[in-house]
Amino acid sequence: MSVSFLSECKEKVLNRIDALLPDTNKIVSAMRYSALADSKCIRAGLVFASGNLNNEISNSALVDMATSIELMHTYSLIHDDLPSMDNDDMRRGQASNHVKFNEATAILAGDALQALAYETIASSLEMTPMEKIYSIKALANACGHKGMILGQQYDLDGEKNEYNDIKKIHELKTGKLIQVAMTMPHLGNQKQKNQLTILDQVGKDLGLAFQIMDDVLEVSTDSSILGKSNQSDLINKKLTYVSAYGKQESINQAHGLSNACIAKLEDSFDKNKVMNLLELAKFMVERES
Ligand code: IPE
Ligand code: IPE
Ligand code: MG
Ligand code: MG
Repeated sequence: MSVSFLSECKEKVLNRIDALLPDTNKIVSAMRYSALADSKCIRAGLVFASGNLNNEISNSALVDMATSIELMHTYSLIHDDLPSMDNDDMRRGQASNHVKFNEATAILAGDALQALAYETIASSLEMTPMEKIYSIKALANACGHKGMILGQQYDLDGEKNEYNDIKKIHELKTGKLIQVAMTMPHLGNQKQKNQLTILDQVGKDLGLAFQIMDDVLEVSTDSSILGKSNQSDLINKKLTYVSAYGKQESINQAHGLSNACIAKLEDSFDKNKVMNLLELAKFMVERES
């Protein structure tokens, strides 16, 4: 993966978050603590790489979209770590939000980051009113009761053997946000519906592959490298790809999905314009943390 591409995306988004959240009080401190912590910013990378395929979208609009999606992602992680959810004490190489602050403040910080995610799009100076409406609708759809939150509920049900469709869990809890990161820069471009369909399908498959590798990394990598617990799934008796298929088969499936996405992107888009997306598709399954 071109390290410089992802770190440029990360810099743009973190600068934006820093500006959106001047550190004035306890809740803002809690929001900044998690949103500015060390992370890969993969979803931001996907927004920029996919946005490169739409000539009509400005870089500033992509910064707004990528920031919104990373804020949403950070909120989901803060809540995912709560004692009533995965009960994880470490995230992004530091104490989880509820450990550093307290449980109530962590819940509120997550809530406020979610609200800020929508506000960031609504108040964009570069996106057209139609692009904002499409984006907010798609983001709400991806993250709500038909998307990420439904996936999180199924994930909790899976712990109790009350739900067993692991592919569905992963497509919803992780895939949906990755999918919308890839499609958002194209939603206002009604002339290129075909492109949108391809990016939507690729986003779905890459999202699944990404979460499969999250399961694999958890059982194969040191927690200091992951920046988070490597025992969480075991302790919580989670249904994971590794528990369902074993480690090697899970790796094979994730790589198979990534390779198929790469082939589809190569077939569908100009090689020069799709380069960063191809590299991200590879990195998402070859990463070490
Ligand atoms: C972790 O996501 C949670 C999942 C949905 C798998 P990332 O691995 O992208 O975490 P950060 O953003 O780099 O911390
Ligand atoms: C996180 O899934 C999914 C969301 C936050 C929506 P996991 O619980 O499997 O991810 P990690 O391993 O804690 O990062
Ligand atoms: Mg979880
Ligand atoms: Mg978790």
